[in-house]
Amino acid sequence: MIRMDNVVKRFGEQTVLSGVSFAVGEGEIFGLLGPSGAGKTTIINILTNQLDADGGSHSIGAGPLQTGLMLDEDGLYTRLSCLDNLNVFAGVYGIPRSLSVQALKNVGLEDAAKKPVRTLSKGMRQRLALARAVLHRPKVLFLDEPTGGLDPATARGIHSLILRLRDGGATVFLTTHNMDEAYKLCDSVALLHRGVIVEKGSPAEICTRHGAFKTTPDLEAVFIKLTGVELE
Ligand SMILES: Nc1ncnc2c1ncn2[C@@H]1O[C@H](COP(=O)(O)OP(=O)(O)OP(=O)(O)O)[C@@H](O)[C@H]1O
Ligand SMILES: [Mg+2]
Repeated sequence: MIRMDNVVKRFGEQTVLSGVSFAVGEGEIFGLLGPSGAGKTTIINILTNQLDADGGSHSIGAGPLQTGLMLDEDGLYTRLSCLDNLNVFAGVYGIPRSLSVQALKNVGLEDAAKKPVRTLSKGMRQRLALARAVLHRPKVLFLDEPTGGLDPATARGIHSLILRLRDGGATVFLTTHNMDEAYKLCDSVALLHRGVIVEKGSPAEICTRHGAFKTTPDLEAVFIKLTGVELE
């Protein structure tokens, strides 16, 4: 459903992606893991055609209207209420406004429907951005650090929503620094270090391959072994 073959990206003198290749099957949750500056957001920007690559090829098996996107820069209208933000988006996509109310319920924001976005907490704002990304029931969903900076309970709420979307048939591409999150949530992952994928596969498979188990399999240990760098 999502594919990159040997993608290269340069910003001036700096090569930020050096031949990145991976494939994501339909209905999978795929996690792109790596520290700050590894190239994760750049990969999302290239896949969603917001940025041109300097080499290689890539494709998504769904059109732009069947794709959902949640970026760090959320682009919500801060003076509008939660519900009105979703309604503006529903208008653009030509979908019934009744879905906006349902989407707020799905992320536990029904009581905040009338609150202006500028008065929301970070976790609430993130959940609203997620509600907007999935409002049009996309087949492919890109989530750039969906739980970054959230408390564990809010993060778990987002995890269960992502699992429900996958169970409904969506293909989910997410980025994270959090190995534990990736292990629990992702069907497959790729470990990215300075624009190079150093390992990929299912979390359990990767940990087994590298003998990286404490009491539970330890993706963090695989990353440190391969790169010498800690994530956090
Ligand atoms: N528009 C740009 N112009 C120049 N350099 C850029 C640009 N966008 C990204 N970079 C550089 O590319 C590299 C990868 O950045 P990217 O945002 O993809 O990292 P990331 O893995 O998403 O990091 P983070 O976890 O902090 O979000 C960084 O060195 C960054 O400085
Ligand atoms: Mg990023």
